[in-house]
Amino acid sequence: TTVEWEAESYDMAGHDTYMHKEITEQAEAVDRVLRGRIDDRFATVRLGGLNMDAREARGVRRVKILGCGSAYHAGMIGAQLIEELARIPADAEPASEFRYRNPVVDPDTLYVAVSQSGETYDTLAAVQELKRKGARVLGVVNVVGSAIARETDGGVYVHAGPEVCVVSTKCFTNTAVAFALLALHLGRIRDLSVADGRRIISGLRRLPGQIAEILAQEEAIAKLAAEYADAKSMMFVGRVRGYPVAREAALKLKEVSYIHAEAYPASELKHGPLALIEPAVPTVAVLPEDELLEKNRATLEEIRARGGRILAVAHAEQEKADHTVVVPRNEVELDPILMSVPLQLLAYHTALALGRDIDRPRNLAKSVTVE
Ligand code: G6P
Repeated sequence: TTVEWEAESYDMAGHDTYMHKEITEQAEAVDRVLRGRIDDRFATVRLGGLNMDAREARGVRRVKILGCGSAYHAGMIGAQLIEELARIPADAEPASEFRYRNPVVDPDTLYVAVSQSGETYDTLAAVQELKRKGARVLGVVNVVGSAIARETDGGVYVHAGPEVCVVSTKCFTNTAVAFALLALHLGRIRDLSVADGRRIISGLRRLPGQIAEILAQEEAIAKLAAEYADAKSMMFVGRVRGYPVAREAALKLKEVSYIHAEAYPASELKHGPLALIEPAVPTVAVLPEDELLEKNRATLEEIRARGGRILAVAHAEQEKADHTVVVPRNEVELDPILMSVPLQLLAYHTALALGRDIDRPRNLAKSVTVE
């Protein structure tokens, strides 16, 4: 349906940029992607557009997620959620790479195309190639009735509402939440317990309020952005759940502030990028409170020992970091969703401090409909 689209308008509503408007709309946007989909009785979610019955869902042996840019990064979060909650091997790959490498198309793999616009050429071409080879392809798409939405066998609409700014914020978040729903749905058809289903559902319901709490820290994040805006380059690191967050945050910063940024799995730092660490190259470290927290803290120590400044995103003040943005605790599986939000504000305020054209960054387009 197109009803959701009317809930939000293209009016700037007092914001100076669409990016700012869209970042601040995320609590409501997440509420919308959840609305009407939670089934408390069976501790699962109902996804009407999936067009896949329980037997078919049980037959899925692998999940392959395809997208470009922020959609690809949301897909990385999605792959982790599907592995964690449904215990199906899953991974994400840039749609462009996939379509050019003559991939093995496997009938037991569920392919998922991710796209805000539903019009990105590389993603659409990947869908068409897969369909031609007889694969089942789902779409996780924002724009209702878009090309990818039409050409897929079914899918999950993201319901983020219109996103105007070239860089994706609320759509990224809602896409990650849509994947949590898909993962929960697949999980509950397979081996995820009722108790775990309830735990994730209650975590999902807490997201809008917690996103609002994060957005309320905007002033403090703006101060941090001003402090780091002199960086020559920035490193973004995380392990497992933190890694896609680091990837997306580095992309956001590059796109909108033009500061060079690199994302690395924290464990890979010592295999090269540690050579770059110095005071002019600060690190943003993403630290979910999971079984890897101690390892992540050790990484902070290594960076500090090389004179690197550190901005941590964590659930509690990190003594090894110069600054910490504290994010509310939720279920650890949902941490990537929450932890991405303050880093959108960081990118936004860095770009603002540097006087960039935030809604229309140079050389970029909202949707790339050419090869
Ligand atoms: C462009 C935009 C990115 C976006 C990507 C994928 O490169 O600049 O922000 O993530 O396309 O767009 P899609 O509409 O497929 O999500």
